[in-house]
Amino acid sequence: MNTVFANKELKKVTDKVSEVAGYLWEKGWAERNAGNISINITDIAKGRVENLSSYPTKQLSITLPSLANNIFFITGTGKRMREVARDIWGNCSIVVVHEDGKTYSIVSEGETVIPTSELPTHLSVHQEMVKRGGTDKVLIHTHPNEIVAMSLLPSLSKEADMNEALWGMHPETYIVVPKGVGLIPYEVPGTDDIAKLTVDSLQSHDVVVWPKHGCLAIGKDMIETFDVIDTLNKSAILYLLCKSAGESPMGLKKGERDVLKIAFKIA
Ligand code: 13P
Ligand code: ZN
Repeated sequence: MNTVFANKELKKVTDKVSEVAGYLWEKGWAERNAGNISINITDIAKGRVENLSSYPTKQLSITLPSLANNIFFITGTGKRMREVARDIWGNCSIVVVHEDGKTYSIVSEGETVIPTSELPTHLSVHQEMVKRGGTDKVLIHTHPNEIVAMSLLPSLSKEADMNEALWGMHPETYIVVPKGVGLIPYEVPGTDDIAKLTVDSLQSHDVVVWPKHGCLAIGKDMIETFDVIDTLNKSAILYLLCKSAGESPMGLKKGERDVLKIAFKIA
C-alpha cells in the first residue's frame, strides 16, 4: 500500500470529508451519485506519493499549467456520498497533475477509482484558487433541493433577482454570503463549457448556482464550505415556504442590508 494513505494529516482532512458527505446524504442533496468533492492536498501529500509511475495516467481535456505537480483528494465518478461517508478510499482517489499540466495520475488505495465526471470544473476552479494564492482549497458540488427549485423559477432567472431573494430571507445569508451567488446559464454537466462559465463566475462570487442542477462552493475547509451552502439553502427553504403560503416574502431591503454591512464590517 502507498504510505500516503496512512498520513495523519491527510486522515484529518478525509475525516471532515466523511462528516460532510454524511450531511449531504442526510439533507437529501445527494441522490444516487449526486455531487462531488475535491481538496488541494499538495501541502500535505507533496513528496509522499510513492511509485507514481505504477498508477494509471490520463490526459486532461484542458491544459492547466498552474496546477503542475499539484495533488488533489477527489471523489470518484458514480460514487455515492453515503458510501463516501463510510469508506473514503473505496470511493475516492488522489489525483497528481504532472509537470506538463496536461496529464495526471490516479492514485487509488485499492482498485482504481476514476475521478468525478466534473473533473474539468474541479481542476479549473482549483487552478483559479492556486492563482489567487489565498487559503481556499476545498470545492463542494451538491444538489440542494431548494436552491435547485429556486433556479427553476422563471421569476428568479436573473442573478440579481436570485440574490435579492436569498439575501432577503435572513440576515445570516447576507453576513455569510455577502458577494451573493453567481448564476450561470444552464450547461451540460461535466463539460469544459460548464467549467469555464463557473471559473468566470467565481471571479466575483464564492458560490455558483448551476440552474436546473445544483450548486458549487469554494472555501478553506470542508465544514465552512458546507455551512455556506447550508445557509443559502435555508434562505431558499424560507423563500419557497412563503411562496407556498401564497404570498411573496417581504425580505430584508437593501437599506437593512447596508446596516448589516456596517455592523458586521463586511467589505
Ligand atoms: P459524478 O458521479 O461523476 O461525480 O457526477 C455527479 C454529479 O453530480 C454530476 O454533476
Ligand atoms: Zn451534479
